[in-house]
Amino acid sequence: MSTTPHNDHHREVATGRESDSAVAVQERFENPGLAPHKHRLGDSDPAAAKRSEAIVVALLTISIVASVAGIVLYVVLPLNAEMMSVRLSNLSLGLGLGIGALGIGIAAVHWAKSLMNDEEQIEERHSVASGAAERAEAQQILQRGADDSNIARRPLLKGALAGALALAPLPFVVPLVGNLGRDWDVDKFRHTIWGDTPEDADPSFFGETADGRVGRRLAIDPTGDPVQASAVTRGSVFHIVPQGMDAEEHYYEEKAKAVVILVRMDPGIITEAPERQDWSYDGIVAYSKICTHVGCPVALYEQTTHELLCPCHQSTFDMTDGAKVVFGPAKRPLPQLPIAVDTEGYLIATADFDEPIGASYWERLK
Ligand code: FES
Repeated sequence: MSTTPHNDHHREVATGRESDSAVAVQERFENPGLAPHKHRLGDSDPAAAKRSEAIVVALLTISIVASVAGIVLYVVLPLNAEMMSVRLSNLSLGLGLGIGALGIGIAAVHWAKSLMNDEEQIEERHSVASGAAERAEAQQILQRGADDSNIARRPLLKGALAGALALAPLPFVVPLVGNLGRDWDVDKFRHTIWGDTPEDADPSFFGETADGRVGRRLAIDPTGDPVQASAVTRGSVFHIVPQGMDAEEHYYEEKAKAVVILVRMDPGIITEAPERQDWSYDGIVAYSKICTHVGCPVALYEQTTHELLCPCHQSTFDMTDGAKVVFGPAKRPLPQLPIAVDTEGYLIATADFDEPIGASYWERLK
C-alpha cells in the first residue's frame, strides 16, 4: 500500500509526539530495573526440590481430603433431629470448600516460589498482529513454561493437581443436585410448639375457649407473662412467645421459629380471608415475626399506616390485609397465627401456623 506525503507528515508528527512523551516519562520515572535473582536451594539441590515437591503434593492432598470430607459429612450427618445438625452439615460443606480452595492456593504459591523457574525475562513489545513466526514463538514460550513447571517430569504432582482441581468445585455442585437421596426432615420448618399440647405440660400454660378449643397461651417476650386480651390496646405492639417455652429442651431453636408479633387495630379496617375469620380477636392479630425474605425479625411497627417493616432489607407488610408484602424483596406474607380468647380472658393460639415460617427453601411446596 502506497502512502502519501500528507500521511507521512502526519505519521512523523504523531511519532514525534509519542517519542517526546516517552522521553518525558523517562525523565520523570527512573526505570527500576529487575531485582537480582535470588538463588534458591532447589535450583541446585535435587533433594531440596524433591522436598518442595512433597510439600506441594501434601497441600494438594489436604485439599482433596477436605473436599471429600466436606461432601461426606454433608451427606452423613443426621438431619432429622435438631436444627443444629443443619448448621453442622452446612458448616462441613463450607469448611470442605474453603480448605480445599486454600490448599490449592497455598500449593500454587509454594510451587511457583520453590519449583518453577524464577529467572525474570524481558519481552519487548511488538505489533498486535502476530504472524506465523510469532505464533510459533508463543508456542515455544508456552512449552517452556510447561517445562519450567516441571509438571511433565513429576507425575505425582500432576496427578495431585488434577485431583485437587477436579474435586474442589464439587462442594459448589452438591447443594445444586438436591438431597442426594437423603430424607431431609423439612417438616421441622413447618412445625412450631404453638401446635403442641404435651401431656406432661403445665396445664396453666394452656387455656380453653368457650366453644372448647384448647391452645397454648401467648406470653410476653421476655417476661413470659400471659397476655390478657383486654391489656392489648389499639396501636400497641407485643413481642410474643408461647407461654412456658423456656422449659423446652431446645429453647433457642424453638423460640427462633415461634416468635410472634401481636398488634391490635380497629376491626373495621382489617381485611380477612373468609377461612381466617376466626383467626383474630376483636382487631387483635398475630403474625410470625420471622421475615419471609431471609428470616430477619420484623419488629418495626408503624402505628399510623399499620405496616410492619423488616430492618434488614426494608420488606414492608400490611397488617390490615393478611400481612401481605407492600414493599421490598419478600415474596410471601407473614404466616398468621390463629388466636382466640380463653374463658379467663387470656389470648391463646388455637393452632400452629398453617405454613412454614421464615424464608423459602427448595422443598417448600406452600
Ligand atoms: S430479611 Fe426481611 S427484608 Fe430481607
